[in-house]
Amino acid sequence: PAHQFKVPATSANLGPGFDSMGLALGKFLRIEAEEGERFEVIFEDDFLEVLPADEKNLVLDTAIRIAKKYDRTLPPLKIRMGSEIPLTHGMGSSASAIIAGVELADHFCGLGLSDFDKVMCGSEFEGHPDNVGPAVTGGLFVGYYGDGSLYYHTLALDGLAAIVSVPPYEIDTGAARAALPASYSRTDAVSQNAINNVMLLSILNNDYPTMGALMMSDRFHEPYRESLIAEYEDIRRVTLSGGAYATVISGAGPSLLTLCREEDVDRIVEALGSVSGCLHEKVEIFQ
Ligand code: HSE
Repeated sequence: PAHQFKVPATSANLGPGFDSMGLALGKFLRIEAEEGERFEVIFEDDFLEVLPADEKNLVLDTAIRIAKKYDRTLPPLKIRMGSEIPLTHGMGSSASAIIAGVELADHFCGLGLSDFDKVMCGSEFEGHPDNVGPAVTGGLFVGYYGDGSLYYHTLALDGLAAIVSVPPYEIDTGAARAALPASYSRTDAVSQNAINNVMLLSILNNDYPTMGALMMSDRFHEPYRESLIAEYEDIRRVTLSGGAYATVISGAGPSLLTLCREEDVDRIVEALGSVSGCLHEKVEIFQ
């Protein structure tokens, strides 16, 4: 029988949580897989057709490599793939593909992986857990992956609405990472540490205005990447004047993530219509 499942889009960083924090969003990569004669991918959405349709596809390539890591051989799979996640736009499309590959290896090789194992496998592929983590767990994910260790916690975010603004161009993650400095001053590191700590307790105490102010105080990546996104200032002006808590770069961009009150979300999406060229849409937080 075919194995069907879906993996959510994710928005990494949330401002100061560079390479560490991420949020699962209600847009999905959908997979239906069954054993076949050879590795084959059938795309159900036209925009996916730029991707390889054989074992070089990131989903299958990951599945093959994960099977090998556990000393198994993945049987040839025929998969159908549909997606609501734009590619190379900072919404975790590669992480969703990697986690789909982990899921396929787990299912077809009977690996019995836990969520922790899946986040670990995904982090080994991506180098950081901020997209693969919430793609497995849902909700708000905060993780540390380094020196072969992985620690994480998750939290359901209540009483918040999310909007994504998606510009029409792509930003290569490698280029967006190359835009960052190689090192940070002690002053910046100490400030950033304080910003993160207070931000997390603000979330736990449902103090979203403080959370929002700190989300927009990042010193690790936003200051170096905002110039890559022409609409950054305009979108922020509209969302913040509409009462949003924060607008930050989603992952490595160019999409922006806005968090706001449920009762404000439709009005802010409508106001964002004035920032043309981008697609602005309300998106559920998936938890
Ligand atoms: N934390 C990563 C970055 C996410 O901002 O570069 C994209 O892989």
